[in-house]
Amino acid sequence: MKDLEGRVAVITGAGSGIGAAMARRFGGAGMKIVVSDIDLGAAQATVATLAAAGVDAIAVRTDVADPAQVDALADAAYARYGAVHLLCNNAGVVPAGRHRQVWEYPLEDWHWSNDVNFMGVVHGIRSFIPRMLEAGTPGHVVTTASVAGLISSAGSVTYSAAKHAAVRVTEALYAGLIERGAAIGVSLLCPGLVNTRIYESERNRPKTLQPATGTAAESPELAAVADQLYRSAISPETVADQVFEAVIENRFYVLTTSAFDTAIRSRCEALLERRNPQFASVLSLVQSDLHPQEKSS
Ligand SMILES: NC(=O)c1ccc[n+]([C@@H]2O[C@H](COP(=O)([O-])OP(=O)(O)OC[C@H]3O[C@@H](n4cnc5c(N)ncnc54)[C@H](O)[C@@H]3O)[C@@H](O)[C@H]2O)c1
Repeated sequence: MKDLEGRVAVITGAGSGIGAAMARRFGGAGMKIVVSDIDLGAAQATVATLAAAGVDAIAVRTDVADPAQVDALADAAYARYGAVHLLCNNAGVVPAGRHRQVWEYPLEDWHWSNDVNFMGVVHGIRSFIPRMLEAGTPGHVVTTASVAGLISSAGSVTYSAAKHAAVRVTEALYAGLIERGAAIGVSLLCPGLVNTRIYESERNRPKTLQPATGTAAESPELAAVADQLYRSAISPETVADQVFEAVIENRFYVLTTSAFDTAIRSRCEALLERRNPQFASVLSLVQSDLHPQEKSS
């Protein structure tokens, strides 16, 4: 989609981080922005920043885990602006306690991660794509997945498994829209580490999904390491620039770093060669993302 001026973007999870940066980037290009977030105050803060820059924007509170609320988001966007051209299914959460093994996670973590990171994307597609197809105008859809959805390791599995599913559904969307001959492009954003508040996702955990056993807290050692890692990661503005280019150029895969290429390739090669995989630890991969020169030296 090359012509963005005066068109309408809906961005979920736009009260913070990558979503807020995309709102500023696309707003700066002349788009009208529907800023959606489960945290209405955060969405309103993004709208205030946009309004100060002369961007036409509204805030809508939406929990993407709830299909009725995503339908209501679409209703609000069409009621206000009469069209939607760009949909960014971006909201996401990382349950704390990523040091656990796959058999140790509480069920609440599986449900929360799946509801937001995977079903949130499905709900966005179901609520918006039929209306975008009916309008017949050029459009674009962006899914914020993660490199975690392309590789494997022992850790962080409630998050990664949902991101793998988000990758799969976005590839299906891409293929389906081509089959249909629709003028709607698709991009799959797979960031490495980005300096946002994702590490504080527990702030958004619903009360109904507090773990019945154990605690949702990160171990203090891992919390300190993660805090330092996120602070030295790339900015959400850099990611928003990459997404902007992908939308303009109609590019599907958007990988923000090459630090995980070896891990992605090694997983695919092991599969094709029918041999047992060797998965690196997430921490070593993340460190190579932040310090590529140390890795190569
Ligand atoms: N930061 C990273 O290192 C990184 C890496 C890979 C992928 N991602 C993905 O990027 C996306 C954006 O995250 P971020 O890094 O900007 O984090 P962030 O925490 O700064 O922003 C996420 C936003 O989503 C909102 N949100 C959470 N649950 C929601 C729900 N149920 N419904 C609607 N909104 C909800 C939060 O209120 C917040 O404003 C997520 O999908 C995340 O998984 C982030």
